[in-house]
Amino acid sequence: MNLALVPFDDRDGWIWLDGAFKPWREAKLHVLTHALHYASAVFEGERMYEGRIFALEEHTERLFRSAALLDFEIPYTKAAINRASTEVCERNNFSDCYVRPIAWRGSEQLSVSALNTRIHVAIAAWAWPKYFDEAKLKRGIRLCWAAYHRPPANAAPTAAKAVGLYMICTISKNIAERNGYEDALMLDSDGNIAETTGTNIFFVRDGALHTPIADCFLDGITRQTIIHLARESGVIVHERRIRPEELPSFSECFVVGTAAEVTPVGEIAEHLFTPGALTFSLKERYEELVRQPPAPHEHVGEGAALRVGCEPCSPKLSA
Ligand SMILES: Cc1ncc(COP(=O)(O)O)c(C=O)c1O
Repeated sequence: MNLALVPFDDRDGWIWLDGAFKPWREAKLHVLTHALHYASAVFEGERMYEGRIFALEEHTERLFRSAALLDFEIPYTKAAINRASTEVCERNNFSDCYVRPIAWRGSEQLSVSALNTRIHVAIAAWAWPKYFDEAKLKRGIRLCWAAYHRPPANAAPTAAKAVGLYMICTISKNIAERNGYEDALMLDSDGNIAETTGTNIFFVRDGALHTPIADCFLDGITRQTIIHLARESGVIVHERRIRPEELPSFSECFVVGTAAEVTPVGEIAEHLFTPGALTFSLKERYEELVRQPPAPHEHVGEGAALRVGCEPCSPKLSA
């Protein structure tokens, strides 16, 4: 059975919901839930590789930080969420899977004000081998320009992985797919290149990497990891404003994210790129890193990004 065709509410397995494991089909919420009406929810996207969730602690940190940005507090410790994230994979017999923690405001109050709502948390896991079609990965995916720009940081809590920020992503990605593209590239409010609907973006020029400054969109954990891996191998990384007019000056382009991992880009609208050596070497290095077994001093679930000294991760995420 092609799992992609099975609705997400009608599968076998277990979902961690508010502190206990529930049979998958019973993990439900009421239609008058605050989060459904007012987007008061934050989530994470993680990947388990060979029994270990990559950068689990950074993801959990971001989940808590996202909740704080949406003015609510997750009623569990980070350690409990880390443990539950790993346990939900084990309970469903996964060693390689995608993991989705989500926290949201409940149904005690249904108005813009939400001070009396209870906070709920669920964690689910499912098999999700590749974000983009495998056949398209080698020649690179095709991007078009997105229908919407990212809001500036003074117009939305842009550092949060908040469900409300994905409204413009879904609209943009739907239009892209209807027109035969794999994804859409979003600009910021000043017209600079920002990110796609679910990934951060990198360009290559003369052996150096160029990537937009992540100040109005998610500073992805994969983005931080790739910057570290590149610098570690002597590649210069420029984090800067990038104008769409610069596209012809870049030789390679790739996008990164937990779900998409490192995905070569073959086209942005009319601009063509040939996936090349730097893209493929970083892709390979990332794929090795996420599968690295924990060092002896590490406790279960600690992210490999920490081990390689991914300095930008922790301070930025918990700032
Ligand atoms: C909009 C957006 N940008 C960037 C990313 C990449 O973030 P990360 O590498 O932390 O998965 C994601 C994925 O979570 C995303 O949804």
